Parts: sequence; structure tokens; C-alpha cells
Amino acid sequence: MSKQWWKESVVYQIYPRSFMDSNGDGIGDIPGILTKLDYLKNLGIDVVWLSPVYQSPNDDMGYDISDYEEIMTEFGTMEDWDTLLAEMHRREMKLVMDLVVNHSSDEHAWFMESKKSKDNEYRDYYIWRPGKNGGPPTDWKATFGGSAWEYDEATDEYYLHMFSKKQPDLNWENPKLRESVYNMMKFWLDKGIDGFRLDVINMISKKEFLSSYEDYKNGREVLMDYQFNGPKVHDYLREMNEKVLSQYDMMTVGECPKVSPDLALLYTGEERKELNMVFQFEHMGLDKYPGKPKWGLKPLNLLELKQNLTKWQKELENNGWNSLYWNNHDQPRVVSRFGNDSEYHTESAKMLATILHMMKGTPYIYQGEEIGMTNIQFQSLEEYKDIETLNYYREALEEGKQHEDIMASIYAKSRDNARTPMQWDSSEYAGFSEAKPWIGVHPNYHEINVESALENADSIFYHYKKLIELRKKHEIIVYGAYDLILENHPSIFAYIRTLGNEKLLVVNNFYGDETALEWPEEAGGFVTKKKLIGNYGEESAEEEGKIKLRPYESIVYSLTF
Ligand code: NOJ
Repeated sequence: MSKQWWKESVVYQIYPRSFMDSNGDGIGDIPGILTKLDYLKNLGIDVVWLSPVYQSPNDDMGYDISDYEEIMTEFGTMEDWDTLLAEMHRREMKLVMDLVVNHSSDEHAWFMESKKSKDNEYRDYYIWRPGKNGGPPTDWKATFGGSAWEYDEATDEYYLHMFSKKQPDLNWENPKLRESVYNMMKFWLDKGIDGFRLDVINMISKKEFLSSYEDYKNGREVLMDYQFNGPKVHDYLREMNEKVLSQYDMMTVGECPKVSPDLALLYTGEERKELNMVFQFEHMGLDKYPGKPKWGLKPLNLLELKQNLTKWQKELENNGWNSLYWNNHDQPRVVSRFGNDSEYHTESAKMLATILHMMKGTPYIYQGEEIGMTNIQFQSLEEYKDIETLNYYREALEEGKQHEDIMASIYAKSRDNARTPMQWDSSEYAGFSEAKPWIGVHPNYHEINVESALENADSIFYHYKKLIELRKKHEIIVYGAYDLILENHPSIFAYIRTLGNEKLLVVNNFYGDETALEWPEEAGGFVTKKKLIGNYGEESAEEEGKIKLRPYESIVYSLTF
């Protein structure tokens, strides 16, 4: 397996709208980010993934782009962005931009042209079809609710939108569209960026336009499959790689819902020349019912989590590369989701961080994760801003669900859990802005904020910082083999990493009750033993060959043989 800088990096995701506001309009911006680069450097970050900062009407908070080569007015100017890149490079940090090319905004010039007439030169930049039996061409559903087809009177046809109706899907069948996308990518790469995170990139090739109920007749699971991993997706990615990606020293991570490891290997296998890594979603789906929307709440089963993450570790062991994440701008906060955000807030946040950062792959930290930011419970629906959440509420109510049940799902799963403003200090609005922010600040900002984390040597922040330092010092964390142990233990997540004559033993108590384990055979016979990191200070957890684990305790031992 080749050594690469992006395998040795730790990535930090910034969601600009909620990161830092510099001009007092309640909306985060690029000059705001600039003031926090030293903070990120202090944490030890190598790469920043910046969620979209392009011109956008913000129907989906920047994931609906109306101009790919302009900066969103609320976020600043192109000069601000140039300064950001220069200042990041000066600090030896790299910048990865978000590439959203499954769809654009309906306010993009291409779409405005496309809808004018059937023979407009941009018509085929999008996917238009005539209706069927007085309705849309197929019964496909959009991710944000309703039909995936929107009727347009001007030409009496429907356009496809897999997300909101303000996010028409681009037509990758059209070589001219592909060329336009590649040119836009070169525009940013020539400015000096270091990579792309590719939004839902495994949706760009569309399956045949069949109506699922009428034509597939294969059950609900199959109906979902029309959205992902379409027939030409690998052709397009190889072309993109040949024409653009391979021409630069850069990293790519493709967001790929509905991929299994064998599919991920097709996207990331080194010899295939497509992408470097994918974001897969299997572990994010373990607290929902299989084949059902995310809103149905199923408690996490630790054995399933261990089995799933291990499957990914093993199947991408010798080819491809894993991305490692618990959080992003679409996911609830992990300490609330899989940890304990009250009594064992600090312990469980550190334990979850250790599990992830000791695995093989490139770790991603989402803003606020490093201080243990938690899920939000807004009292009124008006306080929610996310289109997916608002549409879900409306549709669930129409289906007859009770307000309380709907809110319970929203509290657990809404994307706004991740989007409340970054908590910098305990001043008004958490130091994020001088004005009332676009979305409410979490009321716990008095206790959970960067300023107090930096003042406390035992904070979650310093645990993350140490995990990152360890990754830089010990090659075994980046390149060592991974093996799960205690597979069926109901409360311990433990594994071993191996490189040459070294091993790491990583043991984590996933729950709030004390537990213990015998020193594992697989880690026996060592010559030296050293505790690398733990979340209960230096105090020894070992007694007569047993490792005692307190609530959410997590320990990493370094062993030589
Ligand atoms: C995935 C992005 O992460 C999400 O925020 C967005 O809504 C959809 N893709 C559509 O772009």
C-alpha cells in the first residue's frame, strides 16, 4: 500500500455559516474563519474541508450553487477567499473545497437558460422528460420529500431533482456539461486548492427512467437503488481523474451513500484511478431501521457497530482507503448520539474520539466535535432552519404522526443538531457573533466552549490534540494492520493494531457501567508496555493481569515484541 500525505492527515470540516461571524450579521463568514486558523493549527489540523462557500440562494444552505466561481455575498469576497488560502498555506494547512456537481441551483445561469426552450444550448445540461399519464415521468421520490420531478410550464416537461426542487440534477450524459464541470474544477485547482470533497458523487449517473412501482416490482429496497451507483458513474470518475484530478497533487473524498466495501473498492482502489476515499454511511445507519428513513429511532447495538466498522477496516486493508468520521454537517452530534452528553460528557466524548482516531484511515473532525458540542432541542419548529427537517415535519404530520413523536425524531436526527453556532466562549451568542445568529445558539455554551476547553488541561480538546500528535509520531496508527478482539463482548470495543514488532492495544468501555477484561492473549508476550493515552489520567487501571475499565474508560497501550 502506497504512502500518501492524505493518508497521514487529519481533516477538520468547517461549516462556514456556523463557524465564526466577523461582520456582525449573525452569519459566519470567511474573514471569521481567518481569525480561527491559529486555533486549528493549535489543534494539529493538516487539512480543512470547507463546506460550500459559493454563490447560492441557500435553499439547502449552500449545497444549491448558483455560481461555482463566485463567493457567497454573505461569506465575503474572492479576495477574502484568496487570503484564506494563502494564510492556510502559510501555516502549512491544506484546503479542500466542496464540489457539488450532482445538481446546481435552479438559479444557476445554466438552468435559467435550460428551461427557456427545448432547443436552448443548455437544455441538456439538465434532465428533462415529458410527463406520463398526466403525471411525472416516474414515481421517483426526492430526498427532501415529494416527487423527484418538477413540472415546468414553459416547455411542458418535467426536470429531475433528487433533492429539493431548487436543486435540479445535472445531466452527466452530456459531454459539454462534463467539460464545463472539469473547467470549473481546474479554476479552483489552479488557484492552488488541495482537493475536493465530492457531494453525493455516486448519484451522477442515472439509472434508466423506469417508474419503480409499475416497472421494477421488486420491493421497496430496490426502489431506493435507482438513486445511487448508476451504470456510468465509474466512466465519469475515470474521465474526471484523467482530465483533472491526476494533473494535480491533491486529495479527493467522495460522499457515497449506499456503498458497501466492495463498491467502495471500485471507487477508491489505487489501480482504478477514480477517488482517494469515500464517505460511506453504513455505520451512520445503525440507529435506524434497515431500508427505512433515518427518522425511525432504533437504539444502537454495539455488536453491530463493532462488526460494521471492522468490516470496513478489513476489506479496505490492502487497497483503497477509509475515511473515519462520527460527525459532519448532516449528522447529529456523536456525544449525544452514541455517548452520554450529561453525566459522562467528557469521558464518553474522549472514548468515542479514541475509537475512531486509533483506526486505520483518514480521520475527519467536524467543528465543535473537539469540544464535545451536543445535540439541540429547539422548543418551536420555527427555530429549525434545515429544509430536510422542515419537510419531514410537514409530511409526518400529514401522515398522521403525533407532534411529540415527530419532535423526538427531530431532536435525535435533525441536521440542525450539527449546525448551531460554534461555541467559542461564554459571552453572548457564544462569541460566534455580535448579533443574533441565523440559528439559535445551544444554551449549554456557558459550560461547553473553546475558551474554557483551552484553559483546562483535561478537556476534550486536549484529548483530540493528543490523538492527532500520536498519529504524527507513530506510523503504526496510520499504516498498521487492524484486528478486532473481544468480538462478542457486550460493552467493550477493543482492537489491536500491528506494524513490524509493534502493537497497539486499544480498549474502550462503550457504556456507563464499570467492566473489566483479562489482558488479551493477542497482546501477550510483549517486551515493553507503555500507556499512550487514556481518559482517566495516569492512574493505573490494571490489577493482577486484569484491565479494569471505569465508565466510558478508554486506554491505548503501546507494546513492543
Ligand atoms: C449531501 C450534503 O452533505 C447535504 O448537506 C446536502 O443537502 C445534499 N448532499 C445535497 O447536496
